[in-house]
Amino acid sequence: MEINNSIPEQFNDNTAYMNILNRISVRRYSDKPVTSEQVSAILHAAMSAPSGVNRQPWEFIVVNEPELLTQLANALPYAKMTAHAPVAIVVCGNKERFLDDSDNNLWVQDLSATSENILLAAHAIGLGGVWTCIYPHEKRIAPVRTILNIPDWLVPFNLIPIGYPEKEHAPMDKWNPERIHQNRL
Ligand SMILES: Cc1cc2nc3c(=O)[nH]c(=O)nc-3n(C[C@H](O)[C@H](O)[C@H](O)COP(=O)(O)O)c2cc1C
Repeated sequence: MEINNSIPEQFNDNTAYMNILNRISVRRYSDKPVTSEQVSAILHAAMSAPSGVNRQPWEFIVVNEPELLTQLANALPYAKMTAHAPVAIVVCGNKERFLDDSDNNLWVQDLSATSENILLAAHAIGLGGVWTCIYPHEKRIAPVRTILNIPDWLVPFNLIPIGYPEKEHAPMDKWNPERIHQNRL
């Protein structure tokens, strides 16, 4: 099988495919508000994600109170942009839906899948967001629990501030054929 270094031409005008390639992390937002319809659309995409044994072990906290956004920005070392975002989604794991025994870490993969859907959906509707890390750092989990009143059965996983991008940025080219292996290493 020959794998091309360029994107095969027939996919260049495929909107869904190009949305994946053009998504970037957005950390600066304009003042334009994000509507409840847009948040709803993003959450529908989030809940369409795949999950192990279809457990859907996710819960979403939509934060749009400026005071809370500022407190979250102050509590998290790499999420300062949250103070200037119109809205943020805190993706949480619902422990009561986690699998037991050998599969007990699958929830991290499930929450990663839903988080990527959030980023892709935001980009698809003209917004931008960035995955900012909470889990597995206890020093980030604890203050987020306090600020948002999150009970023990939920684990705050990440925080995704979302807004209209202040400026357009080109995506980086991450294509690296050296990372592709065929059949055996
Ligand atoms: C697990 C994970 C944790 C991340 N944590 C942060 C973070 O705390 N703060 C931040 O600004 N960006 C964070 N990012 C975003 C990455 O920095 C970003 O995806 C990467 O630099 C590639 O850039 P791109 O998203 O524009 O392609 C995180 C991304 C992932 C997947």
